[in-house]
This record gives sequence, structure tokens and C-alpha cells, in this order.
Amino acid sequence: KKEITIAIDGWSSCGKSTLAKALAKSLNFVYVDSGAMYRGVALYALRKDLVSPSHANEEEIIKGLSDITLTFSNNDKGSADLYLNGENVEQEIRTITVSNVVSAVAKIKEVRSFLVAQQRKMGEDGGVVMDGRDIGSVVFPNAELKLFVTADPEIRAQRRYDELQAKGDNVSFDEVRENLKMRDEMDKNREESPLIQTEDAVVLDNSNLSPAEQLQESLKLVEARK
Ligand code: C5P
Repeated sequence: KKEITIAIDGWSSCGKSTLAKALAKSLNFVYVDSGAMYRGVALYALRKDLVSPSHANEEEIIKGLSDITLTFSNNDKGSADLYLNGENVEQEIRTITVSNVVSAVAKIKEVRSFLVAQQRKMGEDGGVVMDGRDIGSVVFPNAELKLFVTADPEIRAQRRYDELQAKGDNVSFDEVRENLKMRDEMDKNREESPLIQTEDAVVLDNSNLSPAEQLQESLKLVEARK
């Protein structure tokens, strides 16, 4: 039997990717980080000066899409790095500079259809765990398992802050918290495929769960759907 598809959506920095990676590893599924793809397009737009935190030149960004090739390639850490036109941009797409403009790029309808088509292709054979904001609602509405991950906003900000500090990214806690708040607002209120919790999604609040506990809970749900 064909393997199932797992869609993981939720707020910014709530541990979606940690869970998605762990699930993919334990099930031997492919993990796809859809947010990395939006970050890749945002980085392209930043480099061409087509976006700032307050404005996106939508027309030029849309024109630029035909020049963008995004690919994932496995790294030696057991995950995959994003490549933008052949260049490894994995580090750069995680910076706060990109985080500050990505939601303005992700709300452009043409950007979304450009990426959604590629995401559907990557998951067409099942055996995939994909995380993002519209995976259960738009990309894979028929996914056998949909998880909606959430956590207390302060805890999310702290986790992301610790992550950036560990990478040597010298950013203040307040800036991280403001960025999460801003992205959540934009992602939830945009016209094109806003972040929603679908009716068939299982809500997972991981404020007080360790990554291992979160994985255990999710694996039980997977078992129930096999
Ligand atoms: O998942 P991550 O936080 O890296 O995503 C970065 C941004 O990309 C989100 O804040 C959102 O604006 C956008 N995104 C999206 N749809 C997805 C994944 C990410 O709009 N499926």
C-alpha cells in the first residue's frame, strides 16, 4: 500500500519542523519544509531589492518567478538544504532579515501557486511529511493525517531566540517576538490561503511537551491511520 501523507501546519516557531523531521526519520518518509521555499523566493526578492519589511514590489517579484529554481539536497546532518538557482542558501534564508520580509512575499497569489504546484509534485507518491501554513488546507487537502501545532507565544519566541543565538545571530528577544507576532498576523489575515486550522486537523499544543513526547503523540496518531 502507498504510504500516507502527513500535513503539519501551525504558527511560526511552534516546533513544526522539529516534529516533521523526527516523524520523517522514524517513518522513513521524505520531509519537505515548505517554509524554506517561501524563504527562498523572499531571499531572491531581497537580493533584487524588490522587498522591504514595509513593501513588496509584487509585479516584479511575479516576473522574477520564472528565473527561480528551488531544490533540496540532503546534507550531512540528516536533513536537507535549500538551493536557490544552484546556490546553497540554507543559512541565509534563516536570518531575521529574511524572516522580516517573507510573509509579504508569501501573500502574493502567484508566488503561492508557483510553490504549491512544486510541493504537490514532491508529495504525489505519499510517504511525505510536509510542514507549513496551508498544507492541510490547500496543498494536500486529502492528507491522511493533519496536525495543527501550537504553543504559547512567549515560549515560541524564547525557542526561536535561543536557536538564533546558538547560530551566532545577534538579535534581541524583542525583535524575535515582534517578528513572530507580525508573521502570525500576516499569515492568518492574508487573502490567499491564510493559516487556518482545518476541521479534520488534530491540535497539538506542545508548550509543555518535549520533542520526544511530541513525537510519541504523533506516532500514535499515525498508527491509528495506517
Ligand atoms: O515555516 P517558516 O516559519 O519557515 O515559514 C516562513 C514564512 O513562509 C511564514 O511566516 C509564511 O509567511 C510563509 N509560509 C506560507 N505557507 C507555507 C509555509 C510558509 O505562507 N506553507
